[in-house]
Amino acid sequence: MVDYDLDSIRRFLHVVGAAVWVGGQIVLAALVPVARAAGPDVHRAVTNAFNRVAWPFFGLAVVTGVWSIFVIDVVDVESSYNVALGLKLIAVAISGTAAAIHTNTTSPMIRGVTGGGSLVAGLAAVYLGIVLVVG
Ligand code: HEM
Repeated sequence: MVDYDLDSIRRFLHVVGAAVWVGGQIVLAALVPVARAAGPDVHRAVTNAFNRVAWPFFGLAVVTGVWSIFVIDVVDVESSYNVALGLKLIAVAISGTAAAIHTNTTSPMIRGVTGGGSLVAGLAAVYLGIVLVVG
């Protein structure tokens, strides 16, 4: 049975937010070496443009994720569901925090660790989201 209902809109917006946040980081990782070779101004312009797009979509994933928690009765689900949800929220928090540190640090070492960490945690959030839906 196919339903073009509010649930499909909620999930659609959540997946779009997740796709731009995580997919954008993968594309940016490929673009950064090219932008860096083109000069510091190009590099800065590219990363600033990425941040202007990626953060609102991260916000969209968070807002629609909170919306999902209100829709799904988290008291009524199996405890394994809440464990996966808890792990997912940790992954989301790590992904966002690492990305924020990545943008603001001057240390190349910290920038590398937080850039990779944000992407890995974002991918973990995607996987755990799939687990929540598929069961
Ligand atoms: C980086 C941020 C996030 C990413 C990448 C992400 C990714 C995903 C993905 C791919 C799904 C599967 C969607 C589907 O197939 O319908 C999902 C589902 C879900 N996410 Fe997220 N998510 C993020 C943030 C959040 C946050 C902040 C929350 C809670 C506050 C949340 C709660 C949920 C819930 C409850 C589901 C299951 C929805 C349902 O069954 O309809 N997510 N997430």
